[in-house]
Amino acid sequence: MKVGRIIDGKAFAAGLREQVATGVQSFVAQAGRKPGLAVVLVGEDAASSVYVRNKGKATLETGMESMEFRRSATISQDELLELIDELNGDDDVDGILVQLPLPDHMDDKAVIAAIDPAKDVDGFHVVNAGKLAVGEDALVPCTPLGCLMLLKDELGDLDGLEAVIVGRSNIVGKPMAQLLLKENCTVTLAHSRTRDLASVVHRADIVVAAVGRPEMVKGDWIKPDAVVIDVGINRVAGKEGGKPTLVGDVAMSEALSHVRAITPVPGGVGPMTIAVLLRNTLVAACKRAGLSPPEGL
Ligand code: GUN
Repeated sequence: MKVGRIIDGKAFAAGLREQVATGVQSFVAQAGRKPGLAVVLVGEDAASSVYVRNKGKATLETGMESMEFRRSATISQDELLELIDELNGDDDVDGILVQLPLPDHMDDKAVIAAIDPAKDVDGFHVVNAGKLAVGEDALVPCTPLGCLMLLKDELGDLDGLEAVIVGRSNIVGKPMAQLLLKENCTVTLAHSRTRDLASVVHRADIVVAAVGRPEMVKGDWIKPDAVVIDVGINRVAGKEGGKPTLVGDVAMSEALSHVRAITPVPGGVGPMTIAVLLRNTLVAACKRAGLSPPEGL
């Protein structure tokens, strides 16, 4: 039986991080300071705390400055906005990331809107979303940009290909659609209300699954030799009381015999997100310092 290639996101991300580290050295030589990333965490959510620690570690490893701001879940939104204002005004800060989700008493949209778009390394600000939509130079959300890098590495030119994205979030689905449109794909943005999702997915040369439902995309939905990017990270109970495991939005074992290539979970898209965050921070730093970002990033 034919088996598709498993895309090694971890290895690709490691290569990207090395490229960023080289770019950081050249930034330091020209600007006389390190690029700086400020990460803000409100509350004590265990998963968020791990993400933030990993981001800080990766930032330091590429030679950048990492600043962490941990605040209690009880601070007011105004206090958080004051902190963001300070970071906006701090010349040593090139990137600001406010870890989501925020506590319930805060309005995520208002908080994101307070970030200087030039420092919005998550690419979540409406100014960056709008720039991406009209084809202007923007800071682009990390996960979809990471998916695009993997797709280009696998397929080269994407011109004219049919792309189906499952999931319409502001963080992944919508920016992914814009990025693939820019690459001249014919893009379908499918979602939970899409009728006959199986046949919609079946016409795709490229499938990006970002719905957050374990193994929802079935193997036989996939056109032979399609490339599949699985953004889902779903924790499911282990069989017969065993340890919980991570699965994607695609039924991987079924899909393997249909695809040309597919990203695994874990080890596919996940490692790309942090690597692209570091890339976005370097790019933001270069732009703020009036330098051109390194070629090929
Ligand atoms: N929470 C989970 N993923 C992310 C991310 O990529 N950015 C932010 N800001 N918060 C997150």
